[in-house]
Amino acid sequence: MRVLIVGAGAIGSFFGHRLASAGHAVTLVCRAPWVKAIQSQGLGLEEKNRVLFQTNLTAVPNVADVTGNAFDLLVCTTKVYDTAQAMHQVARSAIGRVPLLLLQNGVGGEEIAAGALPQAPRLAGVITLPVKVLSPGLIRLAATRGGIGLAAASPGAQVDDLVATLRQADFGEIRSYVDYRAMRWSKLLLNMLGNAVPTILDTPPDKIYGQRRLFDLEQAAFCEALAVMRALGLKSVRLPGYPVPLLAWGMSRLPATVLHPLFRRFIVGGRGGKMPSLHLDLIKGKQKSEVDFLNGAVAGHARRIQLGAPMNHALHSTLQAIVSGDLPWAEFQGQPQKLLARVGWPA
Ligand SMILES: NC(=O)c1ccc[n+]([C@@H]2O[C@H](COP(=O)([O-])OP(=O)(O)OC[C@H]3O[C@@H](n4cnc5c(N)ncnc54)[C@H](OP(=O)(O)O)[C@@H]3O)[C@@H](O)[C@H]2O)c1
Repeated sequence: MRVLIVGAGAIGSFFGHRLASAGHAVTLVCRAPWVKAIQSQGLGLEEKNRVLFQTNLTAVPNVADVTGNAFDLLVCTTKVYDTAQAMHQVARSAIGRVPLLLLQNGVGGEEIAAGALPQAPRLAGVITLPVKVLSPGLIRLAATRGGIGLAAASPGAQVDDLVATLRQADFGEIRSYVDYRAMRWSKLLLNMLGNAVPTILDTPPDKIYGQRRLFDLEQAAFCEALAVMRALGLKSVRLPGYPVPLLAWGMSRLPATVLHPLFRRFIVGGRGGKMPSLHLDLIKGKQKSEVDFLNGAVAGHARRIQLGAPMNHALHSTLQAIVSGDLPWAEFQGQPQKLLARVGWPA
């Protein structure tokens, strides 16, 4: 298979490394420091305490550099907020009808891509393996529990061949789904946990879960997302390595005395020791955040169907204001009472 991966950072490079190692022809579109590193020493993947450099792939800085090549699959692994720009770059090239896989978090990427590439068959993908960037061209698989979920996201898109290809390329558990939105929202449920709250408070998730009021806030936001899913007719699905329906049941039914310790172990273990992704973007000073496609998506969908999602609205608007510089982050760093007051739960 000839694969073009646009936006190769942690996930795109991991995906490309595995496919190239399985004998596929891989081209990565990535930032200049990555291109330089990969061209000089190959793409490094650290796992099980050793680094394997893959030299059997191509790295280029722009989609325009690959015009003229033929591909069987286009994969978008940018952050969701960069999808529109990346897919418009693809649309300007000659590869706009190649099947497109969006391997990302958040809700809304497929709809953005449909606007830029209306004729491409679209596949939705979620990945539950944590991958960390060590330096440009060098990544680490931070935990081995997980895999990839795939679903058709447009008429005519086929997942079966890709499922078979990925099963032969050492990606862990590969599952396919009938409804891509159920898969996406189920991943959103996982990504909401220990993400916006630790980011706003600039405090690691394990410290957040030590505080019962903050745990209550996370639980309330999670239950709002479940209510939106229910109203949209979506049921949570099991994701590779993660029994999301069981989590959803526990979050909405179990007493906090039982749930709280379970929750701490579940999140801290699953993240492979990483600070949450929203925090990484904030400290990079990107002024863009996937919170728009996580808590923001919950709040937005809730508004459209006239359902309340006040916790998600508050978390989204607070983090968005910090990201854009309208609110000083220092006002919230290490100050849970400020966030609790902002969501309407004063001490
Ligand atoms: N990392 C994980 O463990 C993990 C796990 C599951 C899911 N995810 C999800 O997977 C998606 C990708 O995450 P990631 O961690 O791989 O992000 P990442 O490391 O930031 O990789 C994305 C890369 O794409 C680059 N990029 C953006 N627009 C581009 C363009 N038009 N052309 C070329 N390069 C472009 C970015 O460069 P700049 O930063 O310079 O803009 C960045 O290097 C996200 O939705 C994330 O939430 C991540």
